[in-house]
Amino acid sequence: MSTTVTSSVAGVTEQVASLKLRPSEEAKPEEKKQEEYKYAHLLPHFSAEHYPPLTPYEHVDPGHRALSLPDPRAFLESVTSVEELTPRLGTEVIGLNLAELDNSGRDQLALEVARRGVMVFRDQEDFIDRGPEFYRQWGSYFGRLHIHPTSGHPVGYPEVHLVYRDLNSTFNFEYDDAVTPTVWHSDVSYELQPPGLTTFFLLAQPKSGGDTIFTSQVSTLSRLSPQFVAFLRTLKAVHSGIEQADFSRSGRRGGIVRRDPVEHVHPVVRRHPVTGEEALYVNRQFTRRIVGLKREESETILKFLYDHIDRSQDNQVRLKWRPNTVVLWDNRVTAHSAIIDFKETGEARHGARITPQAERPIPALEGLEL
Ligand SMILES: [Fe+2]
Repeated sequence: MSTTVTSSVAGVTEQVASLKLRPSEEAKPEEKKQEEYKYAHLLPHFSAEHYPPLTPYEHVDPGHRALSLPDPRAFLESVTSVEELTPRLGTEVIGLNLAELDNSGRDQLALEVARRGVMVFRDQEDFIDRGPEFYRQWGSYFGRLHIHPTSGHPVGYPEVHLVYRDLNSTFNFEYDDAVTPTVWHSDVSYELQPPGLTTFFLLAQPKSGGDTIFTSQVSTLSRLSPQFVAFLRTLKAVHSGIEQADFSRSGRRGGIVRRDPVEHVHPVVRRHPVTGEEALYVNRQFTRRIVGLKREESETILKFLYDHIDRSQDNQVRLKWRPNTVVLWDNRVTAHSAIIDFKETGEARHGARITPQAERPIPALEGLEL
């Protein structure tokens, strides 16, 4: 009872996944001669397994260990270049093989990503080509790996979350009835312990387009007046995975819901456990309402915050992908969105995410009961 997408991705993709993805149907790759795709083993597979609810776990952030080092940025010492992409967010590094980082280097990486929000590492073919077993080991260093409740994954590796779109299909959580598919979010923020340090890379990408945009939720918050921030710190909001599950249940995205959807309440302003920075923690994709406020009050405040996130280009950075790029971001202090501007070209965009869970969000306001 499972389905795997088969594909020919190189260059312009041919119709591959025109198959209707229902769990009872098996793809029959032998029926069609496929062009060899280097990452065919990482195409989405939709198993119909059902998982129990996630249980709480104690997260120890590796970034803590780097704080006591004499130079917590020593891992960048001998690289070719380190460039700030914007003053507030994003660093691009050339000349470092992430796959070869030792444990101290990984601790430093976690801290630096927390501080910069996003780090872009070019020329990571070694990392990407080591494959899913390595991805699992890599991610496990930073926390317990999240298994996505609805997305496709490589056969045998449910911890590797995949995004995939080509000419005929999308397996992503994208609404096609909106004026734009761009939607700021922090990944799976509906979980009790949403992700912190997150690793993502593309295996296939369109010739142009398919960028990813990021925004600093620390900067977003810091632009607001102290009085308003003081009020936001007293608030908590409901984050929901129900719509995402319904999207799958409606037959899209592989049609699989492997864990029942959950809703959790998180502080509207959270504190990063390592840097101590405060960040706005609401997002249009998963946040539904502010607890305790009247409906109109909640809607008005959330709309204001979403609009502020949308239009503050001075808090944002746009990543142009190149082959063999690996990006890490800290989901606690940033939001992001894919840019789906290449539908008409029919080209494939195929990516993999490794998503360790972090702590239950810490309220910036001490003593706020959740
Ligand atoms: Fe995402």
